[in-house]
Amino acid sequence: MNILVMNGPNLNLLGTREPGVYGSATLDDIAAALRALGEELDVQLGFVQSNHEGELIERLHAAPAEFQGVVLNPGALTHYSYALRDAISSVVIPVVEVHLSNIHAREEFRSRSVLAAVCVGQVSGFGVQSYLLGLRAIVAHVGAE
Ligand code: DQA
Repeated sequence: MNILVMNGPNLNLLGTREPGVYGSATLDDIAAALRALGEELDVQLGFVQSNHEGELIERLHAAPAEFQGVVLNPGALTHYSYALRDAISSVVIPVVEVHLSNIHAREEFRSRSVLAAVCVGQVSGFGVQSYLLGLRAIVAHVGAE
């Protein structure tokens, strides 16, 4: 099984970006933890990070040719990107939404995800574990399909 891990705007800054909110792990640290779990689960992973909505949409369009599912941290696009939502609806592979922070326990605008309804589910608030739980969830979901 091949799973694509996608990260949206500003997540390239993890490690130095608001560590009190997002923790001290860098995106490379998260990728390493995911790779270790991927080996355990016998899953191959691809990684994409972009600060550009259109780039994420295009990578999502291309994903079904290579991947059976997606773990997505959309960053702030979570809260307003109808274009990313439509892209998720348009591809035939399932997407799990993940967040390091608990988006329901922060500013009001973060408590709404315009993507959640078109994702298989959402994991929010567990730091790096959100990604690992998200990977386990998408692998189980795809395996059961
Ligand atoms: C985030 C939460 C979003 O509200 C924020 O814009 C991010 C990161 C998270 O992982 O907690 O960039 O998706």
